[in-house]
Amino acid sequence: MGVHRIYGFTFSLLLFLLLVSAQMALSLSSRPGKTTSSSPASQINSNSVLVALLDSHYTELAELVEKALLLQKLEDVVGRHNITIFAPKNEALERDLDPEFKRFLLEPGNLRSLQTLLLFHVIPLRVNSDEWPVHELGAHHATLSHHSLNLKQSKDSGDRTVDLARVVRPNDVVRPDGVIHGIERVLIPQTVVEEFNRRRSLRAISAVLPEGAPVVDPRTGKLRKKSGPPSPPGSPPEMPIFEAMAPGPALAPAPAPGPGGAHHHFDGEAQVKDFIHTLLHYGGYNELADILVNLTSLATEMGRLVSEGYVITVLAPNDEAMAKLTTDQLSEPGAPEQIVYYHIIPEYQTEESMYNAVRRFGKVRYDTLRLPFKVTAEEADGSVRFGEGEGSAYLFDPDIYTDGRISVQGIDGVLFPAEEIASESKTTRPAKVVTKTRRVVNLIGVRLTLT
Ligand SMILES: *[C@@H]1O[C@H](CO)[C@@H](O)[C@H](O)[C@H]1NC(C)=O
Ligand SMILES: *[C@@H]1O[C@H](CO)[C@@H](O)[C@H](O)[C@H]1NC(C)=O
Repeated sequence: MGVHRIYGFTFSLLLFLLLVSAQMALSLSSRPGKTTSSSPASQINSNSVLVALLDSHYTELAELVEKALLLQKLEDVVGRHNITIFAPKNEALERDLDPEFKRFLLEPGNLRSLQTLLLFHVIPLRVNSDEWPVHELGAHHATLSHHSLNLKQSKDSGDRTVDLARVVRPNDVVRPDGVIHGIERVLIPQTVVEEFNRRRSLRAISAVLPEGAPVVDPRTGKLRKKSGPPSPPGSPPEMPIFEAMAPGPALAPAPAPGPGGAHHHFDGEAQVKDFIHTLLHYGGYNELADILVNLTSLATEMGRLVSEGYVITVLAPNDEAMAKLTTDQLSEPGAPEQIVYYHIIPEYQTEESMYNAVRRFGKVRYDTLRLPFKVTAEEADGSVRFGEGEGSAYLFDPDIYTDGRISVQGIDGVLFPAEEIASESKTTRPAKVVTKTRRVVNLIGVRLTLT
C-alpha cells in the first residue's frame, strides 16, 4: 500500500513536471525570433573554418584535434572570434616528427602537452595571407596556448613564415569565421619541449628531426592515402553565392517557354536537368520535381549558379511530405520558390559529410538560399535530422544524386524557418491542396526537354 502511494505521488509529480515543461516549451516557441537564437553556444555553422578543418586534407592535424578533445574549446572560440589556423601538412606530423616525441604527445597522461601544442597553431584573429607583416622583425601574435608566434614576410623572397615554419599554402581554406594556412612543419612551444625532455630525463633532444633525415616512421610505417585534392570539395568560389544570385529570390513568374527555348548554353542547367531526371527515376519525389520543372526561373537560376562554379545541396522533401502542405503555405505569391530556396544549401554536402559534422558537433547550422534563414541539423537515431521539433525532417533517402556540384538528399518533411513555425502554429491548417495528378513527363517534355 505504502509503495503504491509512493508511486502514485511520484507519478503525479512527474505529470506535473511534464505539464510545466510543456507549458514552458509552448511559451518559448510562440516567441518568434527566440527559437533560433536560444542556444547559439551549442551550434556551429556548417561553413565554419572548424568544420572545414575536419574535412580538409590536413587529416593528421584534424585527428589530433579530435584526440586532444579540443573541439568544444575551439567551437567556443570561433563563436566569439575569427581564427587563423596554421596547419602542418600531413607529412610534418606523420614522419618529420621524432617518433618518440609523437608517442609522448599521444600518451593519455600528456594530454595537456598535446593540447598546448595544438593550440599553439591557432590565433584568435584572422590574418589573411595579404596581411602578413613585412616589417623586418615581423609581428607577434598571441596564440590560444598563450605562447606567441612571430609572423614575418621576407621583403626579398616574399616568403611568409610563422616562427620557423614556412607557409606553403597561404589562404588554403577561407571561411567566414577564419582561415587556414598550410605550413611545412609543426610548431612546438618551448614548454612542451621542456616537458618532453623532463619526462625523457638525461639527454635533451630536439623534437624535430633535421632536414633530410630518414623518413620512416617505425611505429606506423604507413603511407596515408587520405590526403584529398588540393582544394577540397565545398570550398566556394571567391564571391559569396548570395551575391551571385538574381536579386530578390526569383519571385517573378516563370517566363513562358519559347518554341524550342531550352537554354542549352548553361552546362549547369544540364546538371540540374540531370538531377531532376534522377529524382523522377528514383520515385517518390514527383511533387518537388514538378515544382522545379514548373518554375523554370528557379531551375534556370540553379543551373546558372552551378555553371558559375557554385555548389549546392538540395534537401528534397518526398511526396508524402509535400502532400501535407496547405493552401496557405502555397497560395502566397512566391511561396513555392521560398519553400524550395529554404531547402537549398549553398554547399556540397553528402550523407557522410553531414553525418560526420553532426556527430562531431552535435548541432550544425547550414545556410540556405532563403536569406537570412538557416536550417539546423543534428544527430538523431543514427541519422541526420533537420529542423526543430514538430517541423523536423529526417534524412530519408541519402545521396539520391551526387555529381560533385549538386547533391540531392531526400528528407521526409518540408522544412520551414523556426520563426514561421512559431507564427503558423496559431492558425489552423486547412486541408491539403497540392494536386496529386501529375503531368510531369509532359511538362518536362515541354519546358525542359528532359527526354
Ligand atoms: C569575422 O570576420 C568577418 C570578415 O572579416 C567579419 O564580418 C565578422 O564579423 C568576423 N566575426 C567575428 C566573430 O569577429
Ligand atoms: C505546374 O503548372 C501547371 C500548369 O501551368 C499547373 O496546373 C500545376 O498546378 C503546376 N504545379 C505546381 C506544383 O505548381
